[in-house]
Order: sequence, then C-alpha cells, then structure tokens
Amino acid sequence: MSKAFTSYLHFVCAGLVKLRQTGAIVPSQRFLVSRMIAPVPEDYSGEIIELGAGNGALTLRLAQRCRKARVLACEINPVLAQSTRHNLSAAGLSSRAEVVSDSAEHILSERARRGLDKADYIVSGIPLGNLGRERTLALIDQVVRSLRVGGMYIQFQYSLVDRKKIRQRFSSLHTVPVFLNFPPAVVYYARR
Ligand SMILES: C[S@@+](CC[C@H](N)C(=O)[O-])C[C@H]1O[C@@H](n2cnc3c(N)ncnc32)[C@H](O)[C@@H]1O
Repeated sequence: MSKAFTSYLHFVCAGLVKLRQTGAIVPSQRFLVSRMIAPVPEDYSGEIIELGAGNGALTLRLAQRCRKARVLACEINPVLAQSTRHNLSAAGLSSRAEVVSDSAEHILSERARRGLDKADYIVSGIPLGNLGRERTLALIDQVVRSLRVGGMYIQFQYSLVDRKKIRQRFSSLHTVPVFLNFPPAVVYYARR
C-alpha cells in the first residue's frame, strides 16, 4: 500500500471513529486547498500558523507555495500529526514546516504566554461547528489575539453556522463558497 493511501486511510478512519473531532471523513481537496492558501503571497517570509492540519492537505501546499515562509501546524490527533510529518518528509518539505501534536487552544495560549510575535496569517480547518458555542467563541478570541492588526484568519467550514461569530470579532469578513469539494465548503477570510 502506498504511503499516500495509508495517510488517506488514517484520515478516513479518524473521520469515522472521531467524527466530531475530525469534522470530515476525507481531507480537503485541491479547489478548497487553493482557496485557503491563495491570500498568502508566494514570497511571504514570516510564520504561518495552521490549526487542525489533519494529514497535511493544506500544510504541504502551503509549504510548497511559500518557499521562504515557515509553517507551524498543530493537530490534536497524534496519528494524523504523524501522517502530516511523513507526508512533508516524503515531499522534501520538512524543513519548511513543523507539526506539533497539540490542540490549537494550547498552541495559541502558549505563544501568548511566551510573548512570541503575532502572526500575519492563521489558517484553520478546525471544525468550529462541533466545538460548542463557548469553545468556538474562546478559540476565535484566541485567534484574534494571536494576529497582528491587519493580519488574516482563513477558516473553512461546511456550513455558515459560525460566520456571525467571526464577523463580529474582525474588522472585515469575506466569505467564498467552494462547491468543488466534498463536502462543499465556505472559506472565511477575516481581517483583524
Ligand atoms: C476538517 S479536518 C481538516 C484537516 C485538514 N486541514 C484538511 O483541510 O484536510 C479538521 C482537523 O482538525 C483537527 N482538530 C480538531 N479539533 C482540534 C483542536 N482543538 N486543535 C487542533 N486540531 C484539532 C482534527 O483532528 C482534524 O484533523
């Protein structure tokens, strides 16, 4: 069995066994990935934070596109975090991305506690709609605090259920549907 197929199976299994946490049964596909990473300039040379990396669908494309940037990806499921590391390594991209097996909430609070630089871009596939209202609001607030003024939060979701929560906390929000994905999704581009 190829490593790519094994990685895909890891995601499908996570989706079937822990659907609430995983939020999908298949990784994002190329049109959605393209939409998610499009605002990050190819020559961006700072750090990009990715929340909920899964098996690396976005991580790999970000690392390929932004050769001078450094991607810090977190993934709560250790099997998927390991799968992302394998996929990066197989693509020769390990030096451009670090994958931490930890929650988005913990990564963001640790960065704040350590006084690390705020980010220009936070890209997220976290299934906000499955977190519950309080946890979702708390995470969005953490994202706001972790971004520089003018920085962008890019999040996809399979419904519009959390659009209003995001709109209320950012200075602008642009929402784009992506029909060519299973399931169809929306991408939020929220500017702090
Ligand atoms: C819908 S999948 C998206 C995966 C990948 N970004 C993609 O687009 O294919 C959401 C991922 O977020 C992870 N996740 C869920 N809650 C999380 C949390 N609090 N912190 C970090 N990762 C989380 C899940 O394990 C899952 O891999």
